[in-house]
Amino acid sequence: MARPKIALIGAGQIGGTLAHIAAQKELGDVILFDIAEGVPQGKALDLAQCGPVEGFDVALKGANSYEDIAGADVCIVTAGVPRKPGMSRDDLLGINLKVMKSVGEGIAKYAPNAFVICITNPLDAMVWALREFSGLPHEKVVGMAGVLDSARFRHFLSLEFGVSMRDVSAFVLGGHGDTMVPLTRYSTVGGINLPDLVAMGWTTQEKLDAIVQRTRDGGAEIVGLLKTGSAFYAPAASAIEMAEAYLKDQKRVLPAAAYVKGAYGLDGMYVGVPTVIGAGGIERVVEIKLNDEEKAMLDKSIDAVKGLVAACKGIDSSLA
Ligand code: APR
Repeated sequence: MARPKIALIGAGQIGGTLAHIAAQKELGDVILFDIAEGVPQGKALDLAQCGPVEGFDVALKGANSYEDIAGADVCIVTAGVPRKPGMSRDDLLGINLKVMKSVGEGIAKYAPNAFVICITNPLDAMVWALREFSGLPHEKVVGMAGVLDSARFRHFLSLEFGVSMRDVSAFVLGGHGDTMVPLTRYSTVGGINLPDLVAMGWTTQEKLDAIVQRTRDGGAEIVGLLKTGSAFYAPAASAIEMAEAYLKDQKRVLPAAAYVKGAYGLDGMYVGVPTVIGAGGIERVVEIKLNDEEKAMLDKSIDAVKGLVAACKGIDSSLA
């Protein structure tokens, strides 16, 4: 059987890291695509030369033409610009919307059967626009945010409790922005939920609230430190987990910015929800029971995403 083909649209910080992890895991042959001439070719060659040392054996190729992504099984999109200190993800909307148009058209023409994972920010609006521009089925176009946001939450919780990150599971709903909803009731350490851990004296509600806020600000904290760009290792690792779930039909239960119609009272929009990812793409959206406070937080987040989608429609009339 031919190896799967993984097209990485955008060969910047995240794109290069995606290529490295995909190659190390031998998920398939990798095409790095970018508008910058030489960059994807240089990164592909450099990474290919890791193969003999790291012991992987896949093909890596750089490209500036969409023809090279032809027949890709998975496309991971990071094309666009990242934020700088002081910028919010939403500040990127105007520039990155134009990028989504050309990427969507390229994918529609050359890789219409791919599972498409968008990482470009502002995530929930960009994945919606990318789906609109590409015309691919909704279940085959998804945004990566929840895996990353919950990984950040898990990391901070493991530090607070002094336990392995592997035994911490966490749940984050809503848009990938300041209004994201880390759900403490559904987040656990060895199966014990966070409110119970507060009651057991493992932490205090104040400390937990601070961790939730640090999770919401997780991306900005890294932008502030890097100063020249945004996070790339954990975003890449998170998208690869989703790609692997699709390619290996793993039926993983992962939070993702998925198209939601019906569940959570939504009438068709992209927002972060728990999903099941397998060979069918987004095979299921999991609707969990929320209490009034959680519902209010999710509604606020949904409104923020709706505002961004409206702004996209205002900029590009073909989306209206
Ligand atoms: N088509 C293809 N590639 C493009 C296009 C385009 N129209 N426009 C820009 N690019 C490429 C740039 O040349 C650059 O190599 O996208 C790449 C982006 O890489 P970085 O600037 O290093 O950004 P990165 O850190 O990888 O983040 C990419 O993901 O997390 C989000 O907010 C982040 O939107 C940003 C995206």
